[in-house]
Amino acid sequence: MFEHVTHAPPDAIFGLSEAFRKDPNPDKINLGAGVYKDEDGRTPVLDCVKQAEARLLATEPSKSYLPIDGASAYGVAVRELIFGADHEVVTERRAVTAHNPGGTGALRVAADLMKHVRPDVNVWLSEPTWPNHPQIFEAVGLEMKSYPYFDEDSNDLAFERMIRALGQVRANDVVLLHGCCHNPTGVDPTIEEWARIGDVLAERGAVPLLDFAYQGLASGVREDPVGIRALCERVPELMVCSSFSKNFGLYAERVGALTVVAASEERAQAVCSQVKRLVRANYSNPPVHGSAIVTTVLGDAGLSEQWLGELKQMRERIHHMRQLFASELDRRGVMLSAEGNDFIARQRGMFSFSGLDRLQVARLRDEHSIYIVGSGRLNVAGMTESNMPRLCDAIAAVTSAS
Ligand code: LMR
Repeated sequence: MFEHVTHAPPDAIFGLSEAFRKDPNPDKINLGAGVYKDEDGRTPVLDCVKQAEARLLATEPSKSYLPIDGASAYGVAVRELIFGADHEVVTERRAVTAHNPGGTGALRVAADLMKHVRPDVNVWLSEPTWPNHPQIFEAVGLEMKSYPYFDEDSNDLAFERMIRALGQVRANDVVLLHGCCHNPTGVDPTIEEWARIGDVLAERGAVPLLDFAYQGLASGVREDPVGIRALCERVPELMVCSSFSKNFGLYAERVGALTVVAASEERAQAVCSQVKRLVRANYSNPPVHGSAIVTTVLGDAGLSEQWLGELKQMRERIHHMRQLFASELDRRGVMLSAEGNDFIARQRGMFSFSGLDRLQVARLRDEHSIYIVGSGRLNVAGMTESNMPRLCDAIAAVTSAS
């Protein structure tokens, strides 16, 4: 069976983590995968998570199977986090949630659902987008198209071009949007732009699919779903893929969710039944631990407050690193764009889309043991005050000589 099998290329993001682990340089810096590090370069377990785990250890009644779509309390918590408890999609019971293994698992289940209910659908992806998006849709055999998103001259949203492309979308096509902290560019639409996107998608009869892996890392947990809520006011159906990898630091627990909003409660229940069939034929039912942590924290006022505080600290540290990165580049006379480095502080979330080209990225890795994604995406959350000088010296070296 395996005689003819050749090697697949390494993953664009986790392949870097493997190469980093093998690099013997003690001063190596990993700014590849989107993982938060504190000022000491550690990826800590949040205090609220530790407390929730202690409670679970003492009180967890059983490790019997969860329902196929996960515990209902988790679904309620996820929906309240996205929409708020009083939102009409919640009160009209038009939203259903399935707990999936990570944001990637949620996207894969969404892809399976799309292929199952509308096999001829086109999925529209932003150019650029997270490298795993096309792999997921390709794996289920869905057709893909792309729409312009990023304007390299202004380091901003290519909004008018984006709107023109979305004007070509067919009825029932799915448009993948990043709920906040666009990966890799860090550039998000304004609230007015979200409204216009929603108007165009409503006109076309298209369905938004929101990748919402960074809730709380742009402006705040309650502020970041503004785009999703603006879409909800305009279109009857949409899908949201949540992840608790980043905002709870639960990377390895693989805890995510697919929430589907349908036009009626009856339709939402029908969709839920199909999602359950697809999940049952895939991983059967979800793992309990990560979702139990999230449900425990969000269900307790004290732990919730603590979580919001810890998340704020992460957000503020990342923002500080952005400013430091821009000013350290300025000090070395390095300009990552024609208008300077100010765009770095405007970007949101974990990443900076630096404008470094593939050759410069390769030189950073080969000559300086600094690992960033081939598109030039740097994980700002991996920068620290102590690795910043070495990072900026290396960027100065690879940009001046090219
Ligand atoms: C990233 O983009 O680096 C993260 O979302 C990790 C991943 O799964 O790729």
